[in-house]
Amino acid sequence: MIPVRFAQRMQEIEPFSVMEVLERARQLEKAGRRIVHMEIGQPDFAAPQIVIDAAIKAMRERTLGYTPALGLMELREAIAGYYLQHHGLNIPPSRIAVTTGSSAALLLALCALVGPGDEVLMPDPCYPCSRHLVRLTEARPIAIPTDETTAYQPTADMVVAAWRPSTRGILLASPSNPAGTIVEPGELQAICELSGHRGGFTIVDEIYSGLLYEGKAASALCRNPDAIVVSGFSKYFCMTGWRLGWLVAPEALIREVEKLAQNLYVSPPAAAQYAALAAFHPESLAVLETRRLEFRERRNFLFDALRSLGFGIPVLPQGAFYLYADCARFAAQSNALAGQMLEQAGVAVAPGKDFGEHQAHRYLRFAYTRSRGELEEGVERLARMPVVRSALDRSGNTS
Ligand SMILES: Cc1ncc(COP(=O)(O)O)c(C=O)c1O
Repeated sequence: MIPVRFAQRMQEIEPFSVMEVLERARQLEKAGRRIVHMEIGQPDFAAPQIVIDAAIKAMRERTLGYTPALGLMELREAIAGYYLQHHGLNIPPSRIAVTTGSSAALLLALCALVGPGDEVLMPDPCYPCSRHLVRLTEARPIAIPTDETTAYQPTADMVVAAWRPSTRGILLASPSNPAGTIVEPGELQAICELSGHRGGFTIVDEIYSGLLYEGKAASALCRNPDAIVVSGFSKYFCMTGWRLGWLVAPEALIREVEKLAQNLYVSPPAAAQYAALAAFHPESLAVLETRRLEFRERRNFLFDALRSLGFGIPVLPQGAFYLYADCARFAAQSNALAGQMLEQAGVAVAPGKDFGEHQAHRYLRFAYTRSRGELEEGVERLARMPVVRSALDRSGNTS
């Protein structure tokens, strides 16, 4: 057989180690073990019933061919309405592109903005696809190392220090994955301004903005109309598998994105788009609000419980559904600890190395995308692990 030669860029794209955790968890489940899953970042809720009903209706009554590449105009208008109602922002639908998940919004925006020789700043830790998508465009992701002192988010000063002649812009997420923290609003404004003054862009991934537990959600667009905002239906709307997201950007960028969308995937999925129209209905928003409160309750429980076991979580995350926990007290390598947690306690979590390099060996990401009962069970199992017990004994804590 002739060996297949892959493109050079493939050497820069890493697999997710959390997928290995998931794979091993599935093997253990097949062998009869019960696993508490805290590794994957998707809600344990289905889409609201009204959304499901709208999808069924669309499938029964419509041909469901391709839609316009930028999505159905009704849906772009509905998203504009959502920004008006929830953020007081008047955004014309012409500045909104509906995309195949927010992943496609990120990819298309980056493809339109950067290429070989360009650099894009982003915090470390961050959502792994951000750096892989930049690499796909053959631009270079440049990490800004962050830690608990700035809530795992960059400040304007850090961005200034990292900016170089080849920097084209910055990619942030607020609330973030893996830390669940927000970019402090004053810092965000300063970052948008300094990037703009240098002719650069600021992309803010706001996919978790509906899942905010402290304060009121404020889009980066409230502070800077030129910010490029990525968002979508996966997280707050509990529609991961429906593959629908959106991009809010200046009209000139939307025109470029339209060409890319036409060529890459022709149009976002039609059935999901008709269904998503119902996602903004008050009945749907009421269901989602109840779930947001449930996520907040889970966050509060898990934050306290993990800290009392000895995990280091110095800042209470304001949003998303993750806790990024320092586990250096238990192990030198979080990756090895994640393996032990799975094998010994049947608890699956994501190792820090998925999210970057800066102190990644110290961290684990816990997703509270499971019921309170399952989270309690997970914590009890961890408390029984020898490595956790002996650390608790050393500190004189007998809980
Ligand atoms: C920060 C962030 N952005 C984007 C995505 C991708 O979401 P989507 O399902 O909309 O493609 C994720 C998924 O985990 C994420 O954590």
